Amino acid sequence: MGECCYQLTINEGVINMISMKNVSKQFGDVQVLSDITLNASKGEIFGLLGPSGAGKTTIINILTNQLASDGGSTELGVTSKEVGLMIDVDGLFPRLTCLQNMQLFANVYKINKKGVIDALEQVGLGKAKYKKVNELSTGMRQRLAFARAILHKPKVLFLDEPTSSLDPGSAEGVRQIIRDIAANGTTVFLTTHNMEEAVDLCDYVALINKGVIVEEGSPVEICQKHDAKKTTWDLGSVFIKMTGVELR
Ligand SMILES: Nc1ncnc2c1ncn2[C@@H]1O[C@H](COP(=O)(O)OP(=O)(O)OP(=O)(O)O)[C@@H](O)[C@H]1O
Ligand SMILES: [Mg+2]
Repeated sequence: MGECCYQLTINEGVINMISMKNVSKQFGDVQVLSDITLNASKGEIFGLLGPSGAGKTTIINILTNQLASDGGSTELGVTSKEVGLMIDVDGLFPRLTCLQNMQLFANVYKINKKGVIDALEQVGLGKAKYKKVNELSTGMRQRLAFARAILHKPKVLFLDEPTSSLDPGSAEGVRQIIRDIAANGTTVFLTTHNMEEAVDLCDYVALINKGVIVEEGSPVEICQKHDAKKTTWDLGSVFIKMTGVELR
């Protein structure tokens, strides 16, 4: 059984805030993850990349203790209240307004109304605060889920495809918030299918294919290793080379 014991580990002088060691997972007789080991240090933006079905969301579910692994272990260097999570199923209440959805979380973390409104304004939803979730566009819903994930200023933040439904401007706004959060010491663990975003945002990336990590390193390092340069570092071609799957 996987375990998540919320301890801080120090590995060769680096504080690991997220660590997964030799984790495997099967659903039925399908091996979804095989011997996954990864670490993210304090203030790092760690990107998990890979084709659809590779096992990215499963890794986030195991790291956040929502799913037990079959073997191996996980550790986070923070308590569960210091974790922020935005998964691709956003879990918002459709008949409640943006403000009401946020306030449900704010009550748990004892955050006042100003804190909630600040978070909504930060993601460009200040004017939409009294709109019901079922009246929002997909991108607005995604920004609301993001605002909810960062509301309590988590020290470890998991984001599953945080910009997948966003227009370029909103996506850049979210990326800037992620950069600011990481610069203030939060460790960010994100998945994305956008290779430019990974190069732009991530300090370190791991590329997973069919439940196995097939490449990892800083985006520039691994692009250099694969001699993958166009006019900018071309992580996209590493993705296709290592997985055989076209970018979507
Ligand atoms: N609860 C479950 N029961 C059975 N199979 C599952 C379950 N959850 C995920 N899987 C399978 O595990 C594999 C990995 O799924 P996962 O959601 O982790 O992929 P992903 O990399 O996040 O993909 P995407 O990019 O499409 O979000 C897939 O084959 C999926 O069908
Ligand atoms: Mg997924």
